[in-house]
Parts: sequence; structure tokens; C-alpha cells
Amino acid sequence: MSLLKRLQITSLRNLDEVSISLSPTINIFYGQNGSGKTSLLEAVALLGLGRSFRSHKIRTIIEHTKSDLTVFGELLKGSDKVTIGIQRARSGKNIIRVNGENVQTAISLAQELPLQIINADAFLLLEGSSSQRKRFLDWMVFHVKPEFASAWKRLQRVIKQRNSALKHDKIKYSDIALWDQEFIATSNIINQLRKDVLTDFKDSFYNGDNNLSDLGFDVDISYKAGWNEEEDFEGILKSSFEKDVRSGYTNYGPHRADLKFKVGLQLASDVLSRGQEKSLICSLHIAQAYLFSKKTHKQCVFLIDDLLAELDIDNAKKLSWALIKLKSQVFVTGIYKDNLLSIWNNPNSKEAENVNIKLFHVEHGNVQ
Ligand SMILES: Nc1ncnc2c1ncn2[C@@H]1O[C@H](COP(=O)(O)OP(=O)(O)OP(=O)(O)O)[C@@H](O)[C@H]1O
Ligand SMILES: [Mg+2]
Repeated sequence: MSLLKRLQITSLRNLDEVSISLSPTINIFYGQNGSGKTSLLEAVALLGLGRSFRSHKIRTIIEHTKSDLTVFGELLKGSDKVTIGIQRARSGKNIIRVNGENVQTAISLAQELPLQIINADAFLLLEGSSSQRKRFLDWMVFHVKPEFASAWKRLQRVIKQRNSALKHDKIKYSDIALWDQEFIATSNIINQLRKDVLTDFKDSFYNGDNNLSDLGFDVDISYKAGWNEEEDFEGILKSSFEKDVRSGYTNYGPHRADLKFKVGLQLASDVLSRGQEKSLICSLHIAQAYLFSKKTHKQCVFLIDDLLAELDIDNAKKLSWALIKLKSQVFVTGIYKDNLLSIWNNPNSKEAENVNIKLFHVEHGNVQ
């Protein structure tokens, strides 16, 4: 169980000074446009990712007149307390502290505070490039297969070497054949880990006890390895060598993997309405969180920006019940409190007894 108990924010966008204690279950942030709701979620994302989900330019996130921002979170992991502190400055200085100790990379943050983020960019999972879907799949593989991280690093290294060799004049296949042995071996490891995790993920999505089965349409999920798996991978690399040299990069391999979400014969993004897409995307994230908690006995924290945008009340209720069953901590934003409150009302659910809703009014960067 990972959950955020307290959150302190200084100088993040219009949030000058915020200090709030949070519900272990449902936290609702409501208020007018521009009041600071998404910025609150952005602060939590900084704690879990070490970066914003909205901008890569840190200077756009720091309050205009200030030189740095800080976010501090107090977490509960079972009965253990963990603190995370992040300080980002315009000068580029970047400090991450876990339990008071400086850490060098954001990877340990993902272990302390695993997040599921559903915001406007979440639609990219269906509508964006393959890299979005690969990231979705690899998030699970990273968290449930400890051997994935090192294989992934090896893959990045060998692809980099291979791609730079491809740009050399008069390169012959025999010049890179040795690297390809490493490339093939690592690719096979990564491919197998992804396939294993996808099998478990599909089980969680289709058969999980999580109210997700009644989306109202059937979705087929398939996986593409990044090369034709019916053929010998070494043979593919040899025969695509000229093409690789011409393009200056490696055309086939696990870096080109993808997931396909289909409804009937068509891509989900080509046939679903916006609200249907959002229901599917939320269900995929919830299934991912189920798998994560089953395999690691930890919980994800959900950040859902503008939950009710695009969703009707029935679909929003289905999602809220699935989240309640998951026993995750949820941060959700919206404009009107009554609509948001109404979707967590579920008189038929015994889990509803354990729901503790905290309601925060966000107004000009102040949170009450
Ligand atoms: N670097 C910054 N410094 C100060 N204020 C900023 C900065 N960047 C953005 N803002 C302002 O912060 C406010 C908070 O924006 P935010 O996106 O969190 O609002 P919101 O409550 O999510 O609104 P909406 O309902 O429209 O989604 C906005 O008024 C925005 O103009
Ligand atoms: Mg917003």
C-alpha cells in the first residue's frame, strides 16, 4: 500500500503555499477554470515521476516571480513512513530526496509512489504513436519483472552502437554481426517479458473482478513485437541491413513494438466516440493497477484530471466503483462538486463503507 498522507507545495504555478492532509481513498479537488486543480495533480506527479506531466520546461512550472519550486510529500507504505522532497530551480538545479537522502535518478520515485495518470494526454494511448503504447506496456513490465530494467538498458546501449555504426562509410554487415548477437539475445528477453506480462494484463482486463467487462463494446488487444516473429530475427536483420544503412537506424527490433486496440475489425481510435475512448482508457489503467497490485502487493495512486469531461454519469459511476474496489488512493478534479460527489455514492456496494471522501475547494491557488 502506497499512499500520500500529506502534501506541501511551494511556488508551483499559481499554488503559492499549499499544505493539505489527504484522504487515503478519495480526494476531490473542485473549482473554476484556472484555479489550480491540474497544478495540484502536477505536484503529485512531480513526486512520483520527478517531472511534470504537462511540460518539460521547468521554468514554465515555477511560479513566474520565484526562482524555485518545492513539493514535499509524506507517504505511508504499510506502516512505514516515507518522505519525498523535490526542489527544482530556474538555474537547472534539481534536488530529489527520499527520506532525507539525496537520490540521483527518478527511478526510485516510481518505486515509492507508483502513479496512474489519466489526463488530457491519456487519449494518446489510443490516438498517439506506438511509443505511448510501448510505454504503457513497459510500465507494467518494469514493475512486475525485476530483470526487465537491466535488459532494457542493454538494449538501449546496443541500439545506439548499432545505429551509429550504420552511419559509417562503407559499413558491411560483418562489421556489426557481433553486436547483433547481443541485440538478438536482449531482444528475445525483452520480447518474452513483454508477452508474459501482456498475458497477465489481458487476464486482468477481461476477467478481473473489477466491473470493467461492460464497456458496451468488445475490445481486442494484440501485440506486435517490432519484427515478424514468424521469421528468424537474425535473417531479418541481415536482409534489412541495406535499408537500415539507408535510413541510418535499426528498422526492426523491440524498440518498434506496439499494442493494437481494436473494436471489431477497426482500430479503437477510428470508431469509438470520445467518451467511449475515455472509458476504455480508464479501464486499461485500472486493469494495469489491478495487475500491479496482484503482482507486487502494492497500490497505485490515481491522478484523474477532469474526470467528468466526456463521461456521462453512468460511465463515471462504473469507473468510480472499480476504483473503490481497487482500494487505491484517488485524486480527482472537476469544476462542480455536486456532480463529482454523486458518482462516489454507491448504496449497493459494501466497499463503499470504507470510502472516505475529502473535498477540497481550489480558488485562485488557495486550497480549502
Ligand atoms: N508559472 C506560472 N506561474 C504562475 N501562474 C501560472 C504559471 N503557469 C500557469 N499559471 C496559472 O496557474 C493557474 C492554474 O492552472 P491550472 O491548469 O492548474 O488550472 P485548473 O484549475 O486545472 O483549470 P481548468 O479547470 O481550466 O483545467 C492558471 O490560472 C494559470 O494561468
Ligand atoms: Mg485543469
